[in-house]
Amino acid sequence: MSQTRVLTGITTTGTPHLGNYVGAIRPAVAASLDPDVDAFYFLADYHALIKCDDPARIERSRLEIAATWLAAGLDPERVTFYRQSDIPQIPELTWLLTCVTAKGLMNRAHAYKASVDANVAAGEDPDSGITMGLYCYPVLMAADILMFNAHKVPVGRDQVQHIEMARDVGARFNHLFGGGREFFVLPEAQIEEDVAVLPGLDGRKMSKSYDNTIPLFAGGARRLKDAIARILTDSRAPGEPKDPDSNALATLYQAFSEAEDTVAYRAALSAGLSWGEAKARLFQTIDAQVAPLRERYEALIARPADIEDILQAGAKKARAVAAPLLEALREAVGLRPFVRLADARQADAASIEAPKPPLFKQYREADGRFFFKLLDADGRLLLQSPGYASPRDAGQRVAALKADPRAALLDGETLGEAVAPEELAAALSRFSED
Ligand code: TRP
Repeated sequence: MSQTRVLTGITTTGTPHLGNYVGAIRPAVAASLDPDVDAFYFLADYHALIKCDDPARIERSRLEIAATWLAAGLDPERVTFYRQSDIPQIPELTWLLTCVTAKGLMNRAHAYKASVDANVAAGEDPDSGITMGLYCYPVLMAADILMFNAHKVPVGRDQVQHIEMARDVGARFNHLFGGGREFFVLPEAQIEEDVAVLPGLDGRKMSKSYDNTIPLFAGGARRLKDAIARILTDSRAPGEPKDPDSNALATLYQAFSEAEDTVAYRAALSAGLSWGEAKARLFQTIDAQVAPLRERYEALIARPADIEDILQAGAKKARAVAAPLLEALREAVGLRPFVRLADARQADAASIEAPKPPLFKQYREADGRFFFKLLDADGRLLLQSPGYASPRDAGQRVAALKADPRAALLDGETLGEAVAPEELAAALSRFSED
């Protein structure tokens, strides 16, 4: 069985709201339960540093977001759940990728271009306030994805370009250094078509940048109720028929209920249900789902050390995948231990300089006696023995010569024709070394 590896990053800024829950958290947790899915979900806290230079907020936000995902039902035994900043291989891979990423490709990144455009529109220097972090954001994201050979990356539409860039950069690295081997799987963006985009208080997409969000857990049931009370409606009185599509209520209701309940809710509005009653029903419906999660969230957030343990265990699993791949990549680009180079030189030298070994041959003559001779690799006679009465005697003498070359010529042997004594000594010495 081969699983699909699904990976996604959660930027740890801000406080999770209902839009995050319905649009990202809930579907991702559901997807992680699919037995065909090997899910890697991580807190993109290096990415958070690009947008935020307030350490206290960074710290708070990554804790809250970790607790939110766990409270929402993410099972850290089943999913590899970790912090980006606990995987040192990611920034290392980022550099290897940076070195093969065309600057022109990064110039085209939407997030960077939007900042430049805003500067130009404001009459500022185009690069005003733009850090290298923002500029290189897509390379870090490519490293997040390529490090774990993810097949599918569930993201919002605004992130699709980044996945394309990860493919580009991964393919380029494969091409330059793979030598026929594909180091990286080229990822595909997975856009959840049927996941609702939740409207916020004013009916526009719920988003921190519109300041129209309804918090998921922060502030408890009380704050949830208060936020719902602030959803914009028209001034139609109780009893007057209302257009269910004139504000955010029905869409929010739908995101937390069965289809037939939504039909009934819309019908009640059309039949004149008051806005106040409609909001009360919406609160009950949402809170029925959120309250048990909120309880878990509160319990988790009260024990940060437990969350730390969970994330450390996740990081260990993730590093076990990242470390061997990074080793192979370092090797591929030429960042190799010198020790290996020394070994290679020795092997080279040995294969060039070492002549083939000489050879003892034993044989019997017609007169019944036993002889041996030593031949070099080309078959030239180096040493000739006298005759022995038994093969055993001849064999013992061979063994003695192998053990001690200096014994040669002392027991009736003769040198081969035109063989220098040094040459014989060198040949015999090859038996005595191991
Ligand atoms: N940039 C993504 C976002 O803002 C978060 C993210 C970082 C991410 N690295 C990732 C998403 C890798 C998917 C894969 O939503």
